[in-house]
Amino acid sequence: MPLILGIETSCDETAAAVYDTVNKKILSSYLFSQIELHKIFGGVVPEIASRSHLEKIDIIINQSLEEAKIALGDIDAVAVTSKPGLVGSLLIGLCFAKGIAWAGNKKLIAVDHLESHIFSAFLEDDGSANFEVLPFPHLCLSVSGGHTSFYKINKLGDFQSIGQTLDDAAGEAFDKIANLLGLGYPGGPLIEKLAKEANFEDFFNYPRGKKNKELNVSFSGLKTAVLYDLVKRGVFSLETGVIKSALTEELKKQVSSSLLVCIADIFERKLNLAFDLYPDFKGFSFVGGVSCNKYISERLKLVCEKRGRKFKNSPRKFSTDNAAMVALVGAYKFRNKQFSSMYLDVLD
Ligand code: KG4
Ligand code: ZN
Repeated sequence: MPLILGIETSCDETAAAVYDTVNKKILSSYLFSQIELHKIFGGVVPEIASRSHLEKIDIIINQSLEEAKIALGDIDAVAVTSKPGLVGSLLIGLCFAKGIAWAGNKKLIAVDHLESHIFSAFLEDDGSANFEVLPFPHLCLSVSGGHTSFYKINKLGDFQSIGQTLDDAAGEAFDKIANLLGLGYPGGPLIEKLAKEANFEDFFNYPRGKKNKELNVSFSGLKTAVLYDLVKRGVFSLETGVIKSALTEELKKQVSSSLLVCIADIFERKLNLAFDLYPDFKGFSFVGGVSCNKYISERLKLVCEKRGRKFKNSPRKFSTDNAAMVALVGAYKFRNKQFSSMYLDVLD
């Protein structure tokens, strides 16, 4: 029974997981989230991230092996995120993976972070993999703090980008605006909570971008529009920053709610456009950290129901960065003998 050890250290989570390729099941998935270390800076500090990965990686790998009730010698291959991500962070995972592969004569498999997010849609809550859940070809929207992309998924491991953000990722827009409002990091879940308290009402009608026939999106204009709207309302000064007395809890809720509705509207419009442009798409998967957002998810699910397409969300615990999705991609690469040599680099 080939067993794959997955390792993920591309950003601010140190993660390890074991996947059983015969029973198609994640046996364990562990991670250490660095959020608390980066919170006070309002975003991820690369040097702090690398040092923390270095401190935690052996502990996390050992925990995942223990939980899977196996020893390091039992694994057949080690799959590791090799790009894209923070170089110092990726290097910790890659060097550790190489060490395991070299010392134990195991196969080394390079996994692209974006590919692992895409195929996380095939994981179920209990860790089992269900490859029948979405027929091919289908559409995937992957949205996180670092990327926002639409993909045409032809089959396992075979996909192509058909649209993406021209500037900021949607998660980045949530994080930056949350920072502006003094909410904390990561911004997405905090904005969602406040938006819910404001009943997902659209107070400020932020710009939705151009109505064109392309699947590209842009979020940097939206960020600037929110900033200038706050200036207009006397809450933000371009010279001195936030005017705390003017930034009421009520206004925070209104901005959060308007922002969330605006971003959901943008994705809803693009999803409809994608189904118009690619009538052969049989379904849709929504993955990546932002897919944890229930409001956006429900809105996109509704579009799929109306357009007769199957909808699949990656499970919450496998939406933000994790190693289960890395091990899963490692499994089909193992079957296809797509191995890497010890020359594997994070800058390939
Ligand atoms: O996939 P991920 O863990 O890391 C990257 O590869 O970037 O995604 C993290 C992003 C952050 O920007 C965070 O604010 C966003 O996902 N996020 C959310 C929610 N939960 C996480 N955004 C909106 N609503 C959420 N509930
Ligand atoms: Zn990610």
